[in-house]
Amino acid sequence: MSDDVAAAVDALRLGDLILLPTETVYGLGADAANPAAVAKIFAAKGRSRFNPLIAHVSDVAQARRVAVMDALAERLADAFWPGPMTIVAAYRGEGVCDLARAGLNSVAVRAPLLPLARAVIDAFGAAVVAPSANRSGRPSPTTFDDAVEETGPSVAAALDGGPCAVGLESTVVSVLGGVVRLLRPGAVTRSEIESIVGPLAADEGDGHRSPGRLALHYAPDAPVRIEARGARAGEILLGFGPGVGEPRWSLSERGDTAEAAARLFRLLREADRERPSGIAVSPMPNDGLGEAINDRLRRAAGFVG
Ligand code: TXA
Ligand code: MG
Repeated sequence: MSDDVAAAVDALRLGDLILLPTETVYGLGADAANPAAVAKIFAAKGRSRFNPLIAHVSDVAQARRVAVMDALAERLADAFWPGPMTIVAAYRGEGVCDLARAGLNSVAVRAPLLPLARAVIDAFGAAVVAPSANRSGRPSPTTFDDAVEETGPSVAAALDGGPCAVGLESTVVSVLGGVVRLLRPGAVTRSEIESIVGPLAADEGDGHRSPGRLALHYAPDAPVRIEARGARAGEILLGFGPGVGEPRWSLSERGDTAEAAARLFRLLREADRERPSGIAVSPMPNDGLGEAINDRLRRAAGFVG
């Protein structure tokens, strides 16, 4: 075990927080079973206690200890774990404290792909809850420096996993009631999920089943204007596609939604540091990771739901 991983595991055992890199975004981690440790997460983020956390596990065997993994959940885990897929299932009754679940009788589980994250969870031997490491309402951190800037002072150990390859939070699906519902679009796309479990249940409106979706999210300080055809005076334009805006501020010059996802939160933060009058963002197709990007951009622009 590396010194870094050992220090992170010690911190978890002592009930302290850690910065946990994953392939999606940096997380703020704690022992899922320790309510005092979990309370530190809500305090550090300024997060509402109505908003439950994701329990990170090393594999499906560990997921089965905390969640009721029915046939649908098993198929999803088999297809997408380890990776950016979070499954909301019935809670089995042990291992993830009430506060972490916001008192719900369900639990969100995910096995991350990043080897450093897996090493920590494996060595700890139990579930690690970790929301994105931003303060509530701010863009998720996708680099070590951004994570340290957001919540670094609250942690006892910080792991540097480099820039996050995906750059957007995991896809969240619910299997409650024997149907698969998309609660939050993410790196695993709707069509990838449907290829495994068939058509998703109709959307019943945002936020109804995923408390975290009710709040304004992912917003930098500068106002965000989406579907912009160009920059207005004082704005920075985050372009998409060949020749749109300045190369430095391009989400993807080749018009690739996966590349745009990987850059989105970092560029929103960098643009914000220049104190522009606003941040304009070029239209983004809805294919591939586009659905998740457009979801985050609508929220950053203040259109919730
Ligand atoms: O990629 C990710 O998912 C990152 C990394 C660190 O793993 N984590 C993350 O966590 O984005 P957070 O806390 O920012 O988002 C968790 C989402 C929230 O929208 C929350 O409401 C939802 O998952 N959630 C958690 N437990 C739930 C449950 N039992 N039922 C419905 N939604 C739940
Ligand atoms: Mg978050």
